[in-house]
Amino acid sequence: MAVLEVRNLHVAVDGKRILKGVSLTVKSGEIVALMGPNGSGKSTLFQTIAGNPRYQVVEGDVLLDGASLKDAAPEERFAKGLFVGFQSPVAIPEVRFAFLIQAMLNKRSGKKLGDANPKIAEAFKIAGELGLKQDVFNRGVGAGFSGGEFKRAEVLLALLAKPSIAILDEPDSGLDIDGMAAISKALLRLAEGGAGILLSTHYARILKFLEPSKVYVMYDGRLVLEGGPEIVKKVEEAGYERLFKEAGIA
Ligand SMILES: Nc1ncnc2c1ncn2[C@@H]1O[C@H](COP(=O)(O)OP(=O)(O)O)[C@@H](O)[C@H]1O
Ligand SMILES: [Mg+2]
Repeated sequence: MAVLEVRNLHVAVDGKRILKGVSLTVKSGEIVALMGPNGSGKSTLFQTIAGNPRYQVVEGDVLLDGASLKDAAPEERFAKGLFVGFQSPVAIPEVRFAFLIQAMLNKRSGKKLGDANPKIAEAFKIAGELGLKQDVFNRGVGAGFSGGEFKRAEVLLALLAKPSIAILDEPDSGLDIDGMAAISKALLRLAEGGAGILLSTHYARILKFLEPSKVYVMYDGRLVLEGGPEIVKKVEEAGYERLFKEAGIA
């Protein structure tokens, strides 16, 4: 049973305070959704959980299975079972996508990065299910990837990494309907396999597929609303501005 716990997290970027006391928990098999207007701090939270050194923890902590990640480098966090997919994944055109996958699988199984890894066959199969063309494996990471290919590639990596906790920043952004359905199916399978999932999104559609057990709404670095599907409906119908006004938040 894995547990990710964000405890009263305050984070600054380049000296500017962005997160102002965020607390949430994600457990094995659970799907938790994070919504909130642009600039509310969702990606900042995910970058901090990933261990990006630009994001300075001013107060509070992030714990995996009860142990603080404060001193853990990003690759150590990955080795401990955490996977973080970014809103705008970085392109590394010099590295073939197949090599990145092989290196990741080797990191997971304690092999040398350049070793051949038999699990790469699984990658081809899952890519097919995600609607990702096989030629991406021979392209540089992100090289000329469309928005949809970027997002599918991130989810492919998440599935192959077999994380205990998977964090995905807007995995549905820029995806067509089929892509969204394929990704939702894959994420449901990941959760059924025991992974805890925390994802951010702007859209109700993916949450209809995923049926998260908890939905949070972030605003100005704080979680201001918490609930179930009724919150998603309210966001969809009223929009943030009206919702916050009605709730006396802003
Ligand atoms: N590197 C940075 N330097 C300064 N401000 C930043 C930086 N990254 C994010 N911010 C600011 O932090 C706030 C939250 O951004 P972000 O976490 O990307 O929000 P969201 O993902 O919810 O749209 C925004 O006001 C943004 O301008
Ligand atoms: Mg963001």
